[in-house]
Amino acid sequence: IQWYPGHMNKARNQLEEKLNLIDVVIEVLDARIPSASRNPMISELVGDKPHLIILNKTDLADPVMTKLWQKKLQGPRTLVMAMDAQHNTNMQALITLIKKAASEKVKKLEERGASNPIIRVCLVGVPNCGKSTIINRLVGRNVTMTGDRPGVTKGQAWLKTPYGIQILDTPGILWPKFEDQEVGYKLAAFGAIKDTIFHADDVALFVIRQLRQYYPAYLAKFANCTKDKLENIGDTDLLLAMTQNNGMREDYDRFSLFMLQRLRKGKLGRISLDWPSANNEN
Ligand code: GTP
Repeated sequence: IQWYPGHMNKARNQLEEKLNLIDVVIEVLDARIPSASRNPMISELVGDKPHLIILNKTDLADPVMTKLWQKKLQGPRTLVMAMDAQHNTNMQALITLIKKAASEKVKKLEERGASNPIIRVCLVGVPNCGKSTIINRLVGRNVTMTGDRPGVTKGQAWLKTPYGIQILDTPGILWPKFEDQEVGYKLAAFGAIKDTIFHADDVALFVIRQLRQYYPAYLAKFANCTKDKLENIGDTDLLLAMTQNNGMREDYDRFSLFMLQRLRKGKLGRISLDWPSANNEN
């Protein structure tokens, strides 16, 4: 499946050009799918620069999984923090961590006589993982991003923060294509790729399969049935039953979209669909 829009390609090239000006690369992952929302090109992009990973949307993710991922992603040059940018009051921790990541460079500049050198960072991540929200928090106001929205790519600018940190106003980047359809379904389930790329009912069926396996109680609650009943009904029949129970007759496309919206908002429960043990990160 080829779903890497041209403007993202352009954005990536622009980002690569600016990388030598950047002190810390901040990779924003959706804490519910840290593996699927990772960009396979990220290590290439980061090189040996300090790297900070934010597991965002932790309010929606399974807290046990988030803890495991935090441990797993931590590396010699990689700092990891979990946050909920939407409701977060935890900005100070992020600022501290950015400064920690950039400390070597800051020390060098200070030794050369600079006082309070500026730290330059960029945020990268798949669409919808919360980059703008985090940037707005850091900047202290709502800034309009130039990136990522078709036709609005007007080049990049440095956004100033009150903390001696400047942020590259950068679009989200994604990989050109994915071989693994499961990765695509996970991205679609949490809204990182457009609903038009997959059929909503295929994504909903994927979600049902995953929930059945890993969060059966949440699925039973959402379907308003017992666990026993759940075990005795197939995925498609379950989707149809839920569609009818919600007064949508046989319009399971419409119900699928409804279900995905509920999932994305955390209304089915705090759900993560990537397990650190099954993947080989870093
Ligand atoms: P693109 O511009 O598409 O690349 O998205 P983005 O990565 O800049 O994401 P954005 O900040 O626009 O956030 C996407 C949606 O997620 C918005 O509706 C945010 O309000 C919401 N959001 C961001 N962070 C969090 C979070 O930590 N928790 C919750 N619940 N929602 C969040």
